[in-house]
Amino acid sequence: MKTLAGACALMWTCTAAQSAEFRIGMLTPPSHVWTQSANQFAEELAEASGGEHSVTVFPGAQLGNEAQMLQLLQSGALDFAILTAAEVSNRAPTFGAFFAPFLADDIAHAGAILRSPEAVALLDTLPQEVGVVGVGYGMAGLRQIVSTQELDDVGDLSGLKVRITPVEPILDFYSAMGTAPTPMPLPAVFDALANGQVDAIDMDAELIWKLRYFEHAETVAISDHMMFPMIGLISGRVWAGLSEDDRAMISELLAAAVDRCIDEYIAQEEGWIDEVRGTGVTVTTLDRDFFTEAADAWDATWTARVPEPIADLRAAAERLR
Ligand code: BEZ
Repeated sequence: MKTLAGACALMWTCTAAQSAEFRIGMLTPPSHVWTQSANQFAEELAEASGGEHSVTVFPGAQLGNEAQMLQLLQSGALDFAILTAAEVSNRAPTFGAFFAPFLADDIAHAGAILRSPEAVALLDTLPQEVGVVGVGYGMAGLRQIVSTQELDDVGDLSGLKVRITPVEPILDFYSAMGTAPTPMPLPAVFDALANGQVDAIDMDAELIWKLRYFEHAETVAISDHMMFPMIGLISGRVWAGLSEDDRAMISELLAAAVDRCIDEYIAQEEGWIDEVRGTGVTVTTLDRDFFTEAADAWDATWTARVPEPIADLRAAAERLR
């Protein structure tokens, strides 16, 4: 955050001590729902602050990968970020509970779980545990598998190099299916699939369509096997320096920006899958039976590791069915 207050200390004549130039980062490309919502947030904050505040949006990992952006948030070198709950769970394992296979029945159910008090309560731990303020959740739809091999049975995945988001709960799930999980940040995925470094990728419908991953695959398997939450984050150090009014204004607008992503995915996910189908690529459906053993193995590991959040999120999921 560059504050006018800092400049004013040198210039003496300045009176508007509250204005600031903020920065927000994310991994996703400019056409992505998260980035578009961040652009809207920037406009809304400029307007709500009467032009006092500005936000520059840095999409496409311009500020580094998610681990690096989280470090920047912690040091106060970055003001805001829209990050995957996966990355956050690398620092706060309770968020691993969201990756329970088939926690959500469908995309609308996933949205309802993310808006539940049980999910929202998990954000309270972030200032203490990670040094960031979590204002609310968004998501990137449910997870699917894009594969260079046909997938009829879980055995077809055996030994395949499957690109996953770098996070333990997803790694555990793909290990339990006998694959060779290959953790890789989003910007590296296209080339890895195109040049055969991986045989399959774990991905969402929006990016399968918009980044045309399907062009390098034999099959797009719609499995909806996991949620993929995102969190709107404010640096704890930056937060400490904000006035009460700015805290309220920024956190409300950022929370609304990430929350509207939930509605976007609910409205658009099916359409993106139809677009992929329309290209003639094989789109299949995998039901839960395909994943039963891996899901059971995941449950055994993670229920021991983070029992309370898993029980809480399952209770929310049950109530919201
Ligand atoms: C991924 O790692 O697959 C991912 C990251 C950010 C947004 C969407 C997907």
